[in-house]
Amino acid sequence: MNLQDKIAIVTGASSGIGIAFSQKLIEKGALVYGLARRLNHLNEVKEKLGDRFIPVQMDVSRYDDIQDWVKSQFSEDHLPDILINNAGLGIFGNVEDLGVDDWNTMMNTNLNGVFYLTREIVPLMKGNPDHCHIINIASVAGLLGNPQISGYNATKFGLRGFSEALFKELRFDKIKVTTMFPGSIATHFFDQTGTDTHSNMLQPLDVADTMIHLLETPDNFLVNEIALRPLNPKNPDE
Ligand SMILES: NC(=O)c1ccc[n+]([C@@H]2O[C@H](COP(=O)([O-])OP(=O)(O)OC[C@H]3O[C@@H](n4cnc5c(N)ncnc54)[C@H](OP(=O)(O)O)[C@@H]3O)[C@@H](O)[C@H]2O)c1
Repeated sequence: MNLQDKIAIVTGASSGIGIAFSQKLIEKGALVYGLARRLNHLNEVKEKLGDRFIPVQMDVSRYDDIQDWVKSQFSEDHLPDILINNAGLGIFGNVEDLGVDDWNTMMNTNLNGVFYLTREIVPLMKGNPDHCHIINIASVAGLLGNPQISGYNATKFGLRGFSEALFKELRFDKIKVTTMFPGSIATHFFDQTGTDTHSNMLQPLDVADTMIHLLETPDNFLVNEIALRPLNPKNPDE
């Protein structure tokens, strides 16, 4: 796909890799609708990236809001080409300490949110004469279970299953589906989990370069899954 003038939707665009994805897409000439809850952060991103970044205040766990926004924003003359389902969060802890609300927040954001937006965007992509691409941001936690992250694991394993089915369902409609499984990335993700970030983690702009590569592959060439890892994951300061 040639990214010049493509229309992209990036969820979780107020922070972390969502900003990096938006930046790299805009550098390639795309128009980016950046979705997140914190409008002030989205406006800061717009100040940095310019008018090709369109802030959209949205909680991806609210289906009605997503439906309304998609209906009001897109039409036959203005169809999305790219959907990056990136919004997500992790709340960690032993299973007996993981609150029911915490479990539901992760499910509603990391899994239901992806379904809600994808459900609304796919019909538009089917009507798009050009090739389209959906990229779902899972995690290595979608491939490997580990102690204290059972809820997060469940959402990302679920996302893997959803994406695998979708890739097989949509490949005949000129819609690519890719799932990315990154290891630790230096973002605000770890503010909530209480883990310190460090320079040996993956860097957001490097992850975004890989996403651009996936989007720019020839039309009949699909990378359906890709895992990304730091070579040496140890904190160099420890
Ligand atoms: N950092 C890592 O090590 C790592 C590794 C593998 C995978 N991932 C995945 O990468 C994705 C992005 O995370 P990040 O590392 O960039 O973390 P981050 O800096 O914390 O960013 C998370 C983004 O998700 C948005 N978000 C959260 N809940 C939302 C909701 N209900 N509706 C809309 N937006 C919501 C946040 O925006 P608002 O708060 O403004 O809504 C924010 O923009 C997540 O899916 C995460 O699971 C991260």
